[in-house]
Amino acid sequence: MARKIIIDTDPGQDDAVAILLALASPELEVLGITAVAGNVPLALTQKNARIVCELAGRTDIPVYAGCDTPLNRKLVTAEHVHGKTGLDGPQLSAPTMALQPEHAVDFIINTLRREPAGTVTLCVLGPLTNIATAFRRAPEIIAKVQEIVLMGGAYFQVGNITPTAEFNIYVDPEAAAEVFAAGVPLVVMPLDVTHKALTTQSRVDAFRALSTPVGDMVAAWTNFFERFDKEKYVSEGAPLHDPCVIAYLLQPDLFTGRQVNVMVETGSDLTLGMTVADWWRVTKRAPNAMFMGDINAEGFFNLLTNRLARL
Ligand code: RIB
Ligand code: CA
Repeated sequence: MARKIIIDTDPGQDDAVAILLALASPELEVLGITAVAGNVPLALTQKNARIVCELAGRTDIPVYAGCDTPLNRKLVTAEHVHGKTGLDGPQLSAPTMALQPEHAVDFIINTLRREPAGTVTLCVLGPLTNIATAFRRAPEIIAKVQEIVLMGGAYFQVGNITPTAEFNIYVDPEAAAEVFAAGVPLVVMPLDVTHKALTTQSRVDAFRALSTPVGDMVAAWTNFFERFDKEKYVSEGAPLHDPCVIAYLLQPDLFTGRQVNVMVETGSDLTLGMTVADWWRVTKRAPNAMFMGDINAEGFFNLLTNRLARL
């Protein structure tokens, strides 16, 4: 029986690769893709999600548009990393598959109400606005969620959008704080892990060596978005953040981490959006998240490349 997931996302080239990985993996049943404002505005993230489904030949996957602004703040976007469209790099045609008319938050609520408790996993690749809004609007669904696996936060790697905050959390810190406190089983892929999943030249060459439209597209997206991080971190590649979420579902032993308490800063301008992980358990705060700290990067890229070859 395939694992049922909803992918909540703000494509973004790395989101796109994560979606492709999920669609290439029969262990997963993608019930729907819900777009949120993040890397680029919602009008683009919902369009980009449909472009990726069409690239994978999966126009059967329903795509929904969700929240276009954070709960209480102005939207902060990341065109400086992902480009104006959010999927800069290759030339892309507009999608032809339709956007679903239902709001993404209603889709999340209705799906969790309908499906048996403990059978739907939320894979969150962007700001947590849709998830927090669904939990506010229908608190009874919180207990029905099997698990939330999200890319976000940072502790030992500190921030990427401010000195202390990672982008997904920073964009909507109130939403993140509410989701982290909701009591749902939580697996967090912070920068501490994703910064060890670098798109080195040999790994990008392996995408291109697939000699398929998907392999070429992933190589072109990687070549575009890695330029910013390679220059900033003076590294041999860029972190491939969001596919870590899907890879965890497919091969959890690629990752190691620690069950700790994680809370999100929402009051301080200086450290807004910081994920405060009690890694050394110096407080009495109850552990609420499996906070990942390490990854078998070779195994991750082998899994990713082998699965992309199926599309
Ligand atoms: O900080 C990295 C995260 O922010 C990734 O999810 C990337 O897609 C952006 O959303
Ligand atoms: Ca993302």
